[in-house]
Amino acid sequence: MSLKIAILTDLHFSNIPVEDNPQRKGELADVLLLRAVHRLNRWIKPDVTFIGGDLINEPNSPDAEDLFFFLKSSLDLLDSKTIIIPGNHDTPPEIFYKTFERPEDIVEVKGVRFLPFIDPEEPGYNARREQHNLDRMRAARAGFAGQIVSLQHVPLFPPEADCSPFNYINAPEIVKVMDECGITLSLSGHFHEGFAPLKWNESTYFTAPALCEAPFRFCVVELDDDGSVKVETHQLSLPSDSHLTDFHIHTRLAYCNENMKMPKALQLGQIFGLAAMGFAEHSSHLYFSRDAYNAKKFYWDGINSPMIGDNTEDYFSLYKMYANEFSYIGLEIDVDRSGIPVINPELYERLDFRIGAVHYMKSILDAAKRENEFMYLCNAMIRSGIDILAHPFRIFRRNNLAVPHHLFAPLAALLKENNVAAEINFHTNEPPLEFVRLCLETGVKLAFGSDAHNLYEVGEFYPHLKLLEAAGFNGSCDDILLKPSRRQPTKTDH
Ligand SMILES: [Fe+2]
Ligand SMILES: [Fe+2]
Ligand SMILES: [Fe+2]
Repeated sequence: MSLKIAILTDLHFSNIPVEDNPQRKGELADVLLLRAVHRLNRWIKPDVTFIGGDLINEPNSPDAEDLFFFLKSSLDLLDSKTIIIPGNHDTPPEIFYKTFERPEDIVEVKGVRFLPFIDPEEPGYNARREQHNLDRMRAARAGFAGQIVSLQHVPLFPPEADCSPFNYINAPEIVKVMDECGITLSLSGHFHEGFAPLKWNESTYFTAPALCEAPFRFCVVELDDDGSVKVETHQLSLPSDSHLTDFHIHTRLAYCNENMKMPKALQLGQIFGLAAMGFAEHSSHLYFSRDAYNAKKFYWDGINSPMIGDNTEDYFSLYKMYANEFSYIGLEIDVDRSGIPVINPELYERLDFRIGAVHYMKSILDAAKRENEFMYLCNAMIRSGIDILAHPFRIFRRNNLAVPHHLFAPLAALLKENNVAAEINFHTNEPPLEFVRLCLETGVKLAFGSDAHNLYEVGEFYPHLKLLEAAGFNGSCDDILLKPSRRQPTKTDH
């Protein structure tokens, strides 16, 4: 059996950009952390997560504890056991642990002992392990045959290995204890570039890169029963040559949005390496009040509902305020029960792209009728001239129903015939692998959508890329994904 340890370190969170060190994106650390936390919880599922220090950038600034509070609210979401230690940029432990939970001297997870150390700093950003902590390493081994992991902020290395500009001034002494006690693994942060795992005698020494510097990395260490160590590095940015477009980003105008700020979303999209960003607000949120929307008036009455209130101009002016060469405007258009899109068709010419979505069906609980209604609405939607069909089949999953596999082929054929892309969207969804495979085989275009309702989700295509891999695709995404294009300007533009 192996133990999965996530290590996330050096966030350098700050309310203002880190001027003397601009590659440190400390002002984004809250978003970076939340993105990492959600990826860990949903996809990686570590047994334990080690937060290796430097949570904030400026320990003496008056907002230090306030910043800790925001990080803690994200760290509290972690499903795994969490071990948090301060670094040299954090406040002293007695203040730091007013916010975070102080770990025990020995934290045992699935039979592995973790030893968190807060070692005093030495000049040159080095550190020193004190005698009582060397004793703690020995005490952890006494009468214990299992594996032990040393956790600290500053890189620990045998000095002759020359791995890092920073080390412990008494590293030889610590390494000797590592050897004597058979301590399997040492995990550190602090050196922002990080350093590959070094096997030295029977121990592995590893330094993880900083989360706050592009491409925003964290690591997952698999520790096997036999002491072997495998490290996988994850990055929050997209692969550098991926040229991906996120076609499905919501704005503050969605009732279900959590913190969407358009300029911040644009900034994040660029920082995470998106090639383009498409905003796609719910048409039914723009045409109906929250109550009318919740009463599904968009579906029952459609665009001619007596309850209609048109806020689409708010959306266009919001977009216009922040639009840049990198952004595109679309809408996520609902469909009413007759299959008519919930949008005034005059708006079409102002949109760069249109996404069609089936969010509600009256027959969803009626086994005899729901599949017919689904195909009827999809057919109407697809033939209305949309570019992308949002989250195909999600409506079944959301209602805890089995996805009807026999509809994959007819839906794919319909998409193909009308040159409409199928969206890959993981927002409260698991796109069916078999359907994605079929789209790839039959040449149906795909479109990636984060369906971001929270800033951390913008351009989060980790599962999308994994899904393509699982579908057996190993070519260039450029060949299979929809590319964004601008609407043709008209005379009415000004
Ligand atoms: Fe740091
Ligand atoms: Fe540090
Ligand atoms: Fe959406």
